[in-house]
Amino acid sequence: MATQFTIEGLKAEIEGKEILKGLSLSMKGGEIHAIMGPNGTGKSTLASALMGHPKYEVTEGSAELNGEDLLEMGVDERARAGLFLAMQYPSEITGVTNSDFLRSAINARREEGNEISLIKFIRQMEGKMKELEMNPEFAHRYLNEGFSGGEKKRNEILQMMLLDPKVVILDEIDSGLDIDALKIVAQGVNAMRADDRAFLIITHYQRLLNYVKPDFVHVMMQGRIVKSGGPELAERLEAEGYDWVKAELGIVDETVGQA
Ligand SMILES: Nc1ncnc2c1ncn2[C@@H]1O[C@H](COP(=O)(O)OP(=O)(O)O)[C@@H](O)[C@H]1O
Ligand SMILES: [Mg+2]
Repeated sequence: MATQFTIEGLKAEIEGKEILKGLSLSMKGGEIHAIMGPNGTGKSTLASALMGHPKYEVTEGSAELNGEDLLEMGVDERARAGLFLAMQYPSEITGVTNSDFLRSAINARREEGNEISLIKFIRQMEGKMKELEMNPEFAHRYLNEGFSGGEKKRNEILQMMLLDPKVVILDEIDSGLDIDALKIVAQGVNAMRADDRAFLIITHYQRLLNYVKPDFVHVMMQGRIVKSGGPELAERLEAEGYDWVKAELGIVDETVGQA
């Protein structure tokens, strides 16, 4: 089925503070959308609310993947439905090796009795790690423990490649990456472009978008999308910053939920 991801009028709050204030977005398989915006405008909240993070309470609106209501699902069900989030700040988990974590994540999305064989898993993991120019020893390290910022981000891309999701949300995957790591991450994303997969790339800067060409660019301010366009919008934001958007829309403070 052609992938269709639809968010309508999404409102979400954290600790009683409303952060998402009616956000709508429609993405199809094959498309890459970028959400850009200054800090504190609700971008990570959108990612967390979609993934079902328990701290964020959705109060209004809908999010559907191929007609299925994501908001009714738990985190693991959302993952099984094909949603994947690379977090801005990936968690470290002591005692769980990266390869054990990856294999469990793959098997959690398969039917019982249809688990991936160890040999096949290792072959896939090693192949993808090679593509991402990751040191093979990272397979056996505890999840993200002692990984540098760039290694964590590469590891998120490794997870994405192995899980083969329908909708990929990358939250500031470019932050903390030097130019070589940025190119490798971009190659990983480009290699995963497919007709039945949609990408939502959340970023502050447009530099990743030099390597991963978005089809649509959206600007987020005050907990909603305030402007949408094509790749030229990202280029203008890079050249001129966000002030012209604020001036155009009469926005004084673009942030949301600040005390
Ligand atoms: N875990 C949290 N606890 C309390 N407030 C939060 C939390 N996460 C986000 N917020 C609030 O939501 C606002 C938007 O944050 P966030 O979604 O992280 O923005 P962005 O990713 O665009 O920088 C923050 O300014 C903060 O007030
Ligand atoms: Mg953020």
